[in-house]
Amino acid sequence: MGRLVVANWKMNLSLAEAEALASAEAKAAEANPGLTVTLAVPTIWLLSIHAHLRFTPKNLSLCAQGVSEFPEGAYTGDTAATQVKPFVSYALVGHSERRRFHHEAKLTIAHQIKQLVNAGITPVVCFGEMRQAMQATFAPQITIDLGHDLHGLTKDELSACIFAYEPLWAIGTHHPADAKYVQKAVAHVKAWLSTTYKQDLPILYGGSVTEKNTSELAQIKELDGVLVGGASLNAKQFAEICRAFHEPV
Ligand code: PGA
Repeated sequence: MGRLVVANWKMNLSLAEAEALASAEAKAAEANPGLTVTLAVPTIWLLSIHAHLRFTPKNLSLCAQGVSEFPEGAYTGDTAATQVKPFVSYALVGHSERRRFHHEAKLTIAHQIKQLVNAGITPVVCFGEMRQAMQATFAPQITIDLGHDLHGLTKDELSACIFAYEPLWAIGTHHPADAKYVQKAVAHVKAWLSTTYKQDLPILYGGSVTEKNTSELAQIKELDGVLVGGASLNAKQFAEICRAFHEPV
């Protein structure tokens, strides 16, 4: 699939602003055809942005910011995976802001992954440690937590997933993890996924990615892409991030 760049717009932008940004970011995708770009737009704008982009270019798609753990029914305010399916190729799962503000917990995450895989949507499963801990002990803790999130999933469900390593202390703080730290964590999680589940699965990095730290991150050969929050609201910065990740390592 080439490397993946996810733009997480979070709960920002009016419809007119969202359409303008989607057009600009479609150009960034078009300029970097070897890259896969997906825009996690607010759920309320999925239908409009999907119509606005008319499926071009081919390496661009939409991503849901989250879906319900349930298939359908009396769940006020929720959106089912099958309801977003006509518009999206990917969906975020377990983003730290969902865990923090909506108390989404381990079991919810596995159920959301199941709903997405059943609907034919690729889950982008976010995980990461709470505090910066450069000691050798940080890596085991992230895989223990991730193991809890993935509990009960089948081999096929797991093999449909993409992961996003997002240390909580780096999200929205302007303090990204440095490239060495990211490389160490990503290599550790990849090795753990391969030993525990016998799967070689893609991992992205997220947390204060900007056009400034992106070329350093792009050099990490184990890294399959990035999840960009704040900087994805700026078309120029986002285009630079895409360009850096398009270059072969
Ligand atoms: P940030 O957000 O790039 O603004 O740190 C990342 C994320 O929410 O995944």
